Amino acid sequence: MITVDVNVGKGYNIYIGKGLLESTGELALEVIKPCTAAIISDDKVDALYADRLTVSLEGAGFKVIKYVFPNGEASKNSATFVSILEFLAKNKLGRTDVIFALGGGVVGDMAGFAAACYLRGIRFVQIPTTLLAAVDSSVGGKTGIDLEAGKNLADAFYQPEIVICDPMLLDTLDKAVFADGLAEAIKYGAIYDAHMLDLTSADLLDVEAIIKRSAEIKAAVVEKDEKESGIRQILNFGHTFGHAVEKCSNYTISHGSAVAIGMAIISRACEKLGRIEVSYRERIEDILKKNSLPTRTGFDADALFEAMLSDKKRRNDNITLVLPKIPGECELLSLTLEKAKELLELGL
Ligand SMILES: NC(=O)c1ccc[n+]([C@@H]2O[C@H](COP(=O)([O-])OP(=O)(O)OC[C@H]3O[C@@H](n4cnc5c(N)ncnc54)[C@H](O)[C@@H]3O)[C@@H](O)[C@H]2O)c1
Repeated sequence: MITVDVNVGKGYNIYIGKGLLESTGELALEVIKPCTAAIISDDKVDALYADRLTVSLEGAGFKVIKYVFPNGEASKNSATFVSILEFLAKNKLGRTDVIFALGGGVVGDMAGFAAACYLRGIRFVQIPTTLLAAVDSSVGGKTGIDLEAGKNLADAFYQPEIVICDPMLLDTLDKAVFADGLAEAIKYGAIYDAHMLDLTSADLLDVEAIIKRSAEIKAAVVEKDEKESGIRQILNFGHTFGHAVEKCSNYTISHGSAVAIGMAIISRACEKLGRIEVSYRERIEDILKKNSLPTRTGFDADALFEAMLSDKKRRNDNITLVLPKIPGECELLSLTLEKAKELLELGL
């Protein structure tokens, strides 16, 4: 078992290891005394893994209750969120009880947000079951739900007690969902550690190594800037244009695929401006393609720009973009919306 420490708030551990689902109860006891454990999951993950989690938790002395909602981004909304809160209240969950988020980024974001809001905050544990959740969303404490006006518009920074990541759970993922997680891992290669570009371009992927290094990088960045007022913004590489692609597609294009397209757009724009080498832009696109990720979108600059205007990271008429420099290094650039549109047009 690999342990990655996250030194944010009172700090917590990420445990990574094959077969850890069965040890969840035991590992949870390190930080939580037996109490009522509310498993929150989606229907797909519930059918695959909730029984094994329940056995482990009950074996460690927890009383288990469970709330399940339909899988997919469409569920990450206020209606599901309120019904989770009602479920917790109906079952009289108290401040010393705990939520277990069993699922991908949608489950983790929503269960984490419920944990943040219920009774002014109760404890929660992340059990990521997608690669995206393992390498990104389960670490760092961003939780939230989508509103009709846009993605993640109701949100909170709220850290879990512990993250338990069993890479064997990823064996049942669809190929495209697995690739979504690789987009975020490739992002770490571009912004922080060039070695991640080697790891994600290997013919045979070392998934455990990718998860470990991603968790370390995310932890290191979040430790320096928990609330995203500075360096944490580098994690948004590919996300500004990516979120616009997601929004234009009415969220039928997944987050990971949209981020892949966003990274490719900004890289092409930077190459055309002479800010990065042609060979580096080609390398980024090649790694994305090798992992079956898209690099182009059919939406035009006007539609994407319109979608960008609702980006919550926009400050008045300025937006901060993350630009690639050399493998493992990037820079933040605050520019006007007009300039951002020019970059978008260049990179499309
Ligand atoms: N909080 C953060 O820091 C952060 C970071 C990145 C993304 N996100 C959010 O994460 C969400 C996307 O997460 P995601 O890509 O994990 O999507 P997801 O949670 O919707 O999961 C994708 C699909 O995979 C299924 N699935 C999950 N685990 C499975 C398994 N082990 N086997 C088989 N099927 C499985 C799910 O049921 C779903 O149908 C978006 O809402 C995005 O905004 C949050």
